[in-house]
Amino acid sequence: MSTPAPNSWEARAEAHSFYGFTDLPTIAARGTVVLTHGDGPYVFDTNGKRYLDANSGLWNMVAGFSDARLAEAAKAQYDRLPGYHAFFGRMSDQTVALSEKLVEVSPFPRGKVFYTNSGSEANDTLVKMLWFLNRAEGQPQRTKILTRVNAYHGVTVVSASMTGKPYNAVFGLPLPGFLHLTCPHYWRNGAEGETEAQFTARMAAELEDVIAREGADTIAAFVAEPVMGAGGVIPPSDGYFQAIHPILKKHGIPLISDEVICGFGRTGEMWGCESYDFMPDAIISSKVLTAGLFPMGAVILGPDLADRLTAASEAIEEFPHGFTASGHPVGCAIALKAIELVETELLEQCRALIPGFTAGLNALADQPHIGEARGRGLMGALEAVADKPTKTPFPGTLSVSERIANTCTDHGLICRPLGQSIVLCPPFILTEAQMDEMFGKLSAALGQVFAELDAA
Ligand SMILES: Cc1ncc(COP(=O)(O)O)c(C=O)c1O
Repeated sequence: MSTPAPNSWEARAEAHSFYGFTDLPTIAARGTVVLTHGDGPYVFDTNGKRYLDANSGLWNMVAGFSDARLAEAAKAQYDRLPGYHAFFGRMSDQTVALSEKLVEVSPFPRGKVFYTNSGSEANDTLVKMLWFLNRAEGQPQRTKILTRVNAYHGVTVVSASMTGKPYNAVFGLPLPGFLHLTCPHYWRNGAEGETEAQFTARMAAELEDVIAREGADTIAAFVAEPVMGAGGVIPPSDGYFQAIHPILKKHGIPLISDEVICGFGRTGEMWGCESYDFMPDAIISSKVLTAGLFPMGAVILGPDLADRLTAASEAIEEFPHGFTASGHPVGCAIALKAIELVETELLEQCRALIPGFTAGLNALADQPHIGEARGRGLMGALEAVADKPTKTPFPGTLSVSERIANTCTDHGLICRPLGQSIVLCPPFILTEAQMDEMFGKLSAALGQVFAELDAA
């Protein structure tokens, strides 16, 4: 056990703060990291140690940790109108401008935006919108939400129910009516001898079966991340969205793209749905929306859902939903600047990094215990296996991905263990030299941990 010095930042953190999603035995053994400042893609701890954050914070800090233009946009707005809501027919000019911009950059010809403080709340808001408009349209039974195993949609009660992770059982979730289909991960879930095309067809057949079993008129939506992020960076199997979308359309079930991670460039296009060539009925956005500088989420409804929600609201004279800080003017001012930066430079920088990133990731797949290197755009994962030919995972008790991530942290690289995988999603501002640093440190950590495991 590492005991932090009395009254150190680390001791004070442990005394009075809870961490989210933190392996408590590991943290007790290793100690915490308390950060003080950032510079480009680096963050610094209270001891002055520098870390290259290969996870962009939590996928969001794509402009790094010191872009003065974003901070200046915030400061200017704090000076002008430092806070306001979007209730009772009032909202700030920045909120108006951001909605216009979001619809303009969305794949929709027209649409409307509703703001939240997080991606989880955006998913909750979407579900309430659908329940609300279905009831108003005389279909109160149309409540079920389809998602996939391994999907991550958030932590509030509804978005955790949408999330397809086994750990939510500790809360007694999911709520009834939240159904999880098979994760479309061909490498892991493909059957013996099954081609990728056959696997995709099986995913589509499963969807047909679930709709037939549950009744199409009980299903409010199918919600999917274009690339599953917190599930371990899992791109869908080839042709997945092209196979499922016609089925959903045939049954009148909206397809919602949860773009909290993919949105604003991560996949190499503005939206993940563009990378995978499908047109959703609504988009869930957060994270890069403000480049990580402000807690904000948004539900962007395409024309059909926007019209139906408007009509349903007129019927009862309001949409009774909203958060105190929905459409906060400072958040909106930051988001407008963040989108401007994405459009004028960050997306281009991201695209320029993708070939080197993909090559670096694939090169590490040669390591003896890496079963799969996968990803899309500037997000990737390496999945560790005990035995490569049979894809047998390491026993969970060995905490292999945590050991790799901890070894990286020791060497000044932050990357994230997710299941048996190590995930990379660096800021878009990375230089070639910083990319080399990232892969060099990760490669060394993989070598060290796998050698220890093989020797044990
Ligand atoms: C795809 C996706 N949806 C929703 C969320 C939840 O967002 P938040 O953590 O802001 O509530 C996340 C968070 O990582 C996410 O990756």
